[in-house]
Amino acid sequence: MGDVNDPLASFAALRTDEGRSLLDAVRDVEPSQELAVATRLRREHPADLVSAALAQARLRQRAVPKFGAADAARMYFTPNGVEQSTRTTVATYRARRFQDLGVRGVADLCCGIGGDAIALARAGISVLAVDRDPLTCAVARANAEALGLAELIEVREADVTDVDTSPYDAVFVDPARRGGRGRIFDPEAYSPPLSWAVEAARKAPRAALKIAPGIPHDAVPGETEAEWISDGGDVKEAVLWFGAGVPGSHRATLLPAGDTLASPLATMLPDPAVRPVGRYLYEPDGAVIRAHLVAEVAARVGGGLIDETIAYVTSDAAVATPYAAAYEITDQLPFNVKKLKALLRERGVGILTVKKRGSAVEPEELRRKVKPQGPGTATVFLTRVGGAPTMLVGHPTGGAAA
Ligand SMILES: C[S@@+](CC[C@H](N)C(=O)[O-])C[C@H]1O[C@@H](n2cnc3c(N)ncnc32)[C@H](O)[C@@H]1O
Repeated sequence: MGDVNDPLASFAALRTDEGRSLLDAVRDVEPSQELAVATRLRREHPADLVSAALAQARLRQRAVPKFGAADAARMYFTPNGVEQSTRTTVATYRARRFQDLGVRGVADLCCGIGGDAIALARAGISVLAVDRDPLTCAVARANAEALGLAELIEVREADVTDVDTSPYDAVFVDPARRGGRGRIFDPEAYSPPLSWAVEAARKAPRAALKIAPGIPHDAVPGETEAEWISDGGDVKEAVLWFGAGVPGSHRATLLPAGDTLASPLATMLPDPAVRPVGRYLYEPDGAVIRAHLVAEVAARVGGGLIDETIAYVTSDAAVATPYAAAYEITDQLPFNVKKLKALLRERGVGILTVKKRGSAVEPEELRRKVKPQGPGTATVFLTRVGGAPTMLVGHPTGGAAA
């Protein structure tokens, strides 16, 4: 094996026959067995190659939630690469949008280990994948080969600001949003800065820029469709689309099902009115909230807000919607732990789900105090109703309209 301090040589060694057989040998090693396995393997293989294989096996395990077990077992990662890559569900969804727009070639600027490039190639799109980090490029190349996509993915080691994107009918930019000190919130501190990415997008017939979901709405260029994407209820990212969707609009997309709600800013409904808590409470998906589309969901369920500052919608009707989780509310009481404890005891509630919005109370602390006991289940919302700290008790309707 080459110089252990040279990450490229170390990575290349992992891809030799010996490296590959070591990767197979350490594939399912539990952390508690690592030392024993490493000691045994070091008798026959170079110690640094064994360490590199074990480190790669750990990264593959970390990548499973993003890439699925089958792909993660074949792919290669760096610690930053696994952290920053786009999960398959989101990358596949975005690749389909490009595909639906008739895009055939994408310049993937800031490709990382290839999360997006892989999904684009699997949608039949040819990709120029650019990253300035040599090891990241080697890993992206290895991934394209490992997944049989090398014909569609050309990996180029370069600074994206030096790349001519004119041969491509779309540009995708996923800037680095983590620095040495953790996450970067200022879009101008991204690498490359958001303003550069916007200019690169404007030069292309179509483009998508991946940004943090917390982007201030006034930083969103007016000609874009801004899309917030959640997966399994967690908001994962926002995307600015150029040449796709209605310019000056917001969209919320909920994966894995793919339900999508969009509205032009100009005709977006005003904030829903505040009204008394009705029989049902609706908890909008985070993507809906980030996209400021709560009013659209309230209109669909014929509801209003429980408080002007809280994104819970209430209604007397049970309306099935993918955009919000629905609960039937059985009790409304002022915030009072003793009263809640008594009520739960009376109902025999042993499994208590605590949700909160607009309350500083820690769910775990509340659960400790009320000591739920019994076979029943309930959900308690710690929130504000018309400004007053309130507890709403109920249970999920299960999505079905009553
Ligand atoms: C968020 S990651 C990309 C993740 C990728 N979309 C994926 O799914 O795997 C950002 C990448 O941008 C690269 N990068 C940052 N600034 C760059 C620049 N000016 N030129 C080229 N690459 C750059 C970093 O090396 C990093 O790999």
